[in-house]
Amino acid sequence: VRHIWLADFGSPLYDWITAQEVWRSHIRSLISRFPPGARRILDLGTGPAVSAIVFAESLPDSVVTGLDLSEGMLNRARPRVAASGARDRIQLVRGDAHQLPFPDGFADAVAGHSFLYLMPDRARALSEAKRVLRAGGQLVLLEPQQGFRFPRWALWRKSLRFGISMFLWRIVSQVEGRFSTTSLGDLISAAGFVDVHVEPTLGGLGLIASARA
Ligand SMILES: C[S@@+](CC[C@H](N)C(=O)[O-])C[C@H]1O[C@@H](n2cnc3c(N)ncnc32)[C@H](O)[C@@H]1O
Repeated sequence: VRHIWLADFGSPLYDWITAQEVWRSHIRSLISRFPPGARRILDLGTGPAVSAIVFAESLPDSVVTGLDLSEGMLNRARPRVAASGARDRIQLVRGDAHQLPFPDGFADAVAGHSFLYLMPDRARALSEAKRVLRAGGQLVLLEPQQGFRFPRWALWRKSLRFGISMFLWRIVSQVEGRFSTTSLGDLISAAGFVDVHVEPTLGGLGLIASARA
C-alpha cells in the first residue's frame, strides 16, 4: 500500500481540518443514498472517524464499523469515538480495504468518503466492497473529480478550515489520481454493481457515486 506513512504523519492535521460542521454536513449528504432501514454500515478509510460518527449519530439504529489501515489515524479516531454519543455502536478495525476482514454479505451499506482514489488497486477494493455487501445493499462514495478546479470562494466563505481542506484535497488527489463521471461509473460497474449513479458535488470538486450490490 502506497503512502500509508503519509496518513500516519498527516493524521493530526487531517483530524483538525475535518472536525468541523461543514465537513460533517457533507458526509451527512451520503446517508440519503443508503438503502432504507440500513443498519449495518461499513465506513472504508474512516480516518479520524468523523465520517463513522456522523453515520452512527444520524442513524440511531445503526451499527457502524470504521476501517482504516493507518494506526496514526486510528489513534485519532479512538478518543473521538469514545467522546461521541454513539460510542457503543461504533467499532474501529485496522485493516486493508483490498482484503476486508469481514464475511460475505456483512453490510447493508458501504461508504467511502474520500477513499477510493487513494487505493493502489481500485478494482480490487471495489470487488471487496461488493463481496461484503448483502444483495441489494448500497455502495456510496465521495471522490475527487478530474479537471483543473480551484475551491470556489463560496466554499472558503463557508469556513476557512473547509477551504483549506478542499485545497489540500486538490493537491493530494492531483498526485493520487482523480475520476471523471464516466471513469468512476465504469469502474463501479466493472466490479459487478448495478444502478450506478455518479453526480458532481462540491461545486464540481467532487463526485458522489451510488450503486447497488
Ligand atoms: C482522506 S482520508 C478520509 C477519512 C474520512 N473518511 C473522512 O472523510 O473524514 C482516507 C483514509 O483512507 C485510509 N487508507 C488509505 N489506504 C487504505 C487502505 N488500503 N485500507 C484502508 N484504509 C486506507 C487512510 O489512512 C485515510 O485515513
